[in-house]
Amino acid sequence: MNLILLGPPGAGKGTQAKILEQGHGLKQLSTGDMLRAAKDAGTEIGLKAKAVMDRGELVSDDIVIGIVSERLDMPDVQKGVIFDGFPRTTAQAAALDKLLASKGQKINAVIEMKVDDEALVKRITGRFTCAKCGTGYHEEFAKPKRLGVCDKCGSTEFTRRPDDNEKTVRDRLQVYNKQTAPLVDYYRGQGNLHVIDGMADIADVTREMEAVLRQLKA
Ligand code: AP5
Ligand code: MG
Ligand code: ZN
Repeated sequence: MNLILLGPPGAGKGTQAKILEQGHGLKQLSTGDMLRAAKDAGTEIGLKAKAVMDRGELVSDDIVIGIVSERLDMPDVQKGVIFDGFPRTTAQAAALDKLLASKGQKINAVIEMKVDDEALVKRITGRFTCAKCGTGYHEEFAKPKRLGVCDKCGSTEFTRRPDDNEKTVRDRLQVYNKQTAPLVDYYRGQGNLHVIDGMADIADVTREMEAVLRQLKA
């Protein structure tokens, strides 16, 4: 089963993808995480992507489709994928349809997560991540149980993304509205769009997503 989590920056795509990975045999595929890993590793793709990402613009379709195509050949994603942050343009959506079709697979559901702009800005500017294991937190909405200590691995080092400032978030929102939001109609046309309220608490959003998954399996 292949799912797409579609939503603006801060909608909760990464948060929910990590929760849904457990128990469904699905693997999160976040193009943002993959590009950040390439940047940290200093690869050619990473170096090319860095400036574009820091400005909040989109990395070229060729680069992104290339890394997704390679990733989909790996053994750990054969049971199904939760696409997080991909596709982001109609060219990427068409390329994904083709890639999956060549493997005898398809997109089973697209879950659009709706969140108000001001809530998105608040979520992004309060976000931080464990430097060691990558667990995501929020200053107000998802605090570690012990202040300054990662729940999962005990590390006391945290990082923030360079693109997580108010100015870049507003730019990313504009990019989303212009280049990615048209995908809502694209997938509605394919008949597999599910819209959920992303403003609810993290656990309630998970419940809404689980309901969609149950519907698909029924
Ligand atoms: P990417 O990494 O995909 O970033 P994004 O789409 O901007 O989304 P975010 O990761 O910021 O938000 P999220 O929805 O995952 O939210 P999260 O769960 O963390 O892309 C980064 C850049 O890479 C792009 O700008 C582009 O340059 C490039 N790129 C990536 N993919 C590309 C592609 N396909 N094509 C071209 N370029 C590409 O939640 C946010 C915070 O809110 C967290 O702190 C969390 O704890 C909190 N939170 C989550 N849910 C809730 C809730 N329900 N209530 C309260 N708080 C919540
Ligand atoms: Mg994310
Ligand atoms: Zn950790």
